[in-house]
Amino acid sequence: MADKLISTAEVAKHTTAESCWVTLYGKVYDITEFLPSHPGGSRVILQLAGHDATEEYDPIHPPGTLEENLKPEALLGSIDPATIEEAPKKENTKSKLEDEGPPPMGTLLNLDEIEQVAKKQISEKAWAYYWSASDDLWSKSNNNSVYRDILLRPRVFVDCTACDITTTLLGEHKVGLPIFVCPAAMARLAHPDGEQGIARACSRFGVMQIISNNASMTPEQIVADAKPGQTFGWQLYVQNDRAKSEAMLARINKMSEHYKFICLTLDAPVPGKRELDERQGFKNASRVSVAAKGKNEPERPGGGGVGQQLFWGTAADLTWKITLPWLAKHTKLPIVLKGIQTHEDAYLAAKYAPQVKGIILSNHGGRALDTAPPALHTLLEIRKYCPEVFSYIDVWVDGGIKRGTDVVKALALGAKAVGVGRAALFGLGAGGQAGVERTFEILEAETATCMKLLGVKNLEELGPKHMNTRKVEQDIFDGDANLDKVGMWEKVRSKL
Ligand code: LAC
Repeated sequence: MADKLISTAEVAKHTTAESCWVTLYGKVYDITEFLPSHPGGSRVILQLAGHDATEEYDPIHPPGTLEENLKPEALLGSIDPATIEEAPKKENTKSKLEDEGPPPMGTLLNLDEIEQVAKKQISEKAWAYYWSASDDLWSKSNNNSVYRDILLRPRVFVDCTACDITTTLLGEHKVGLPIFVCPAAMARLAHPDGEQGIARACSRFGVMQIISNNASMTPEQIVADAKPGQTFGWQLYVQNDRAKSEAMLARINKMSEHYKFICLTLDAPVPGKRELDERQGFKNASRVSVAAKGKNEPERPGGGGVGQQLFWGTAADLTWKITLPWLAKHTKLPIVLKGIQTHEDAYLAAKYAPQVKGIILSNHGGRALDTAPPALHTLLEIRKYCPEVFSYIDVWVDGGIKRGTDVVKALALGAKAVGVGRAALFGLGAGGQAGVERTFEILEAETATCMKLLGVKNLEELGPKHMNTRKVEQDIFDGDANLDKVGMWEKVRSKL
């Protein structure tokens, strides 16, 4: 069956929810039965029905996806090469400067310049997905601008010839930089080097990388070239179909020499409304009506951008009481909770130590709840109401980091490490692995320069005394501490 030759004209006849064929990697598949269960919805497939879908499919599906999801009889045969016509050049998928290629990475001086090069190199769809954020983008832009409202207090007449910015995360993992890569999805949308390219760049700088639940490469592929001691975390979006998540945890448990913790994302039980991403979804919908869908397929709200497709099937019913014990049953790896946005939740997380070994203060890059606070506010809130949290668990932050001074500010206020999500993807988009290396090189140099100009030689010496946070303090939460008055914190303490 598999070697039967099928003409492009024959494939082109099957474009409906009743009979839907596509060509992938030169093979023809009948995916009619699979349509209603496609995690991204059937409409996105129907847009490509009757056509060669490889270009759209490849960057967002790790190898093995077809085999896992289609019955063997779905493979109808191979496309007859004699019937393939030269495809007309697509308009608007890339910028006019696409063919010029990127400038040498060494000529890019800061993360904004890298982002601008990436914008020219990657597809409009990838740009819209990565760059987009919720509603009016307030949280996204404030994540970055809040750092400008913190002023530095440099001490002088200090020998700052040497400066050590290495640190240890979760009490045992030595890293070269206090910077980590956040679990951002679909790296191959930016560049074929994908998550593995990011991993190689990380290995050069000793940077920790958290792999997205929606990575475009398999967890095995990503760590294939990892150096001994290179640290990875695995992000989990718990699925409604718990068996899928349990199977994934079992797979990650087997690679515990690389994957040192599970990062459970909590800030986006449902996706935010990302209008740039949704609008991009409409552009590709011209071949099929917005209402088109497979038989028995539930209605999907929203415009169907990449974000909404990825969130389909994600569980929104997680709780402290049920989900953490469930995780303990399926993995011995420690848990890092991502998406903490108040001191109360930071405090609760510390109560679950040692299963919970860290938290990431994050508003999901402004992609979930718009006008949610930047991580820096939550960090200051923890300092104000329950600074004990810092001594029980690692507190990391992400969102808006673009300069070494941003890194230093977060660290001085108690963060153990800061995460970069979009910045790593834009580095990858600008120049593949070399672009990510350039991103780290810039952040490393800027961070060290900031430390030296502040008069500190290592991260232990750095502290709140180096920061003037007065302007930001006036914006942080100022109500009741809301912490359990019946000694919840004391219970945590007495365990030690
Ligand atoms: C996003 C998810 C998938 O923000 O983390 O798009």
